[in-house]
Amino acid sequence: MNVMVIGSGGREHALAWKLSQSPRADRVFVAPGNVGTFYDAENVPIDPMNFADVIRFAKENNVGLVAVGPETPLCGGLVDALSAEGIRAFGPSRAAARLEGSKIFCKNALKLGCIPTAEFATFDNAQNALNYLREREDKPIVVKADGLAAGKGVCVCDNREQAIQAVQEMAMDKKFGSAGEKLVIEERLDGEEASVLAITDGKTILTLPPCQDHKAAYDGDKGPNTGGMGAYCPAPVVSEEMLHWVEENILVRTVHVMNRLESPFSGVLYAGLMIGRQGPKVLEFNTRFGDPECQPLLMRLKTDLLTIMEATVDRQLDKIGPLEWDPRPVVGVVMASEGYPGKSAYGRPIRGLEDVAGMSDVKVFHSGTRVNDKGEIVNAGGRVLTVTAFGESIALAKKNAYEAVRKIRWEGAWCRHDISDKAAQG
Ligand code: AMP
Ligand code: GLY
Repeated sequence: MNVMVIGSGGREHALAWKLSQSPRADRVFVAPGNVGTFYDAENVPIDPMNFADVIRFAKENNVGLVAVGPETPLCGGLVDALSAEGIRAFGPSRAAARLEGSKIFCKNALKLGCIPTAEFATFDNAQNALNYLREREDKPIVVKADGLAAGKGVCVCDNREQAIQAVQEMAMDKKFGSAGEKLVIEERLDGEEASVLAITDGKTILTLPPCQDHKAAYDGDKGPNTGGMGAYCPAPVVSEEMLHWVEENILVRTVHVMNRLESPFSGVLYAGLMIGRQGPKVLEFNTRFGDPECQPLLMRLKTDLLTIMEATVDRQLDKIGPLEWDPRPVVGVVMASEGYPGKSAYGRPIRGLEDVAGMSDVKVFHSGTRVNDKGEIVNAGGRVLTVTAFGESIALAKKNAYEAVRKIRWEGAWCRHDISDKAAQG
């Protein structure tokens, strides 16, 4: 069967790499892909938001399954558009992707399902939000833009003054465009964050081993929020017992609520959790694999991903046995461009990739890379590579990942140095 992956990040490189290993996959196309997917699969120059082109290509090339990586085409309805043409597509419908695309929808669904989450209020204009903040006690609070804002539409505030400023920026100055026209204001939760992802067809849930992302730019969780500077799997902060609890009290209830809301969920349900003294609470849902969580997860997955994805689309996940995992932990370190997450400098030749290619138990997933007119691989985005490695323990996986990182260089390249350290502290 021919398969098509939609997207161009590290997550999509991991998806294409894994799908290419399937004995049932013939050609694996990636639209539009990056340098990594050029080597591990076949790139096609199609914009994921150009649904007509995606559909035309899938039909002309006999694509039996399309796996949609990023949230923007999911929230825009790419899966619906493909399904309407009889093309099987892995990922939630537009209605189900609202769990990620609208924080107000998400919070209301959580409430309806009695699913643990921060106390919240929703607003459809700035004035009401400001009145609310002025009337209540001055304490730490979180302001969130309702719509998609590339992971940046959340302001974790220490006090009322900061929250007022966040409301002004989001809803009045339109910092995130229309995404900030409506707002969620919620209680600030304390604890440690973890990501629990599951694959579901709306009936059966396959919970994946827990991961931990590192969203802050710099060591010690300092600096601005990013798309994620590294991830590891499994994350010991989520014990086996807690994972069962999350499955029962968060994942099952969410899938059920989505059925009740006539928006059955199919695809990857990603619960971003805060684990505090009262147990895990949902910070957010994503409706896709996380980037970079996908890279360590798929390194460890031994079951055929194409079979899992097809079974999901066909609502046959109950026929798949327990997923098989490599017992060894994996640590993935993101190497970023100078200036990221602000304005970054691009076009700089990347050296050392060939030295890492020979390392066993290490895989470098590409994100923002391209080939320049001299034929050199150069950086072309904020997050450039996820250097991902196995180890017999998390500490050894970390050591292997950073050993590979040290072999790769370009002008201005940088990374966090403490990916997975929280596992050791726990
Ligand atoms: P979200 O996009 O909703 O996951 O928010 C991005 C990040 O903001 C999360 O990963 C948390 O670090 C932080 N965050 C979001 N909501 C809260 C909350 N209620 N309390 C504390 N931190 C939060
Ligand atoms: N790593 C967080 C995300 O993919 O949203």
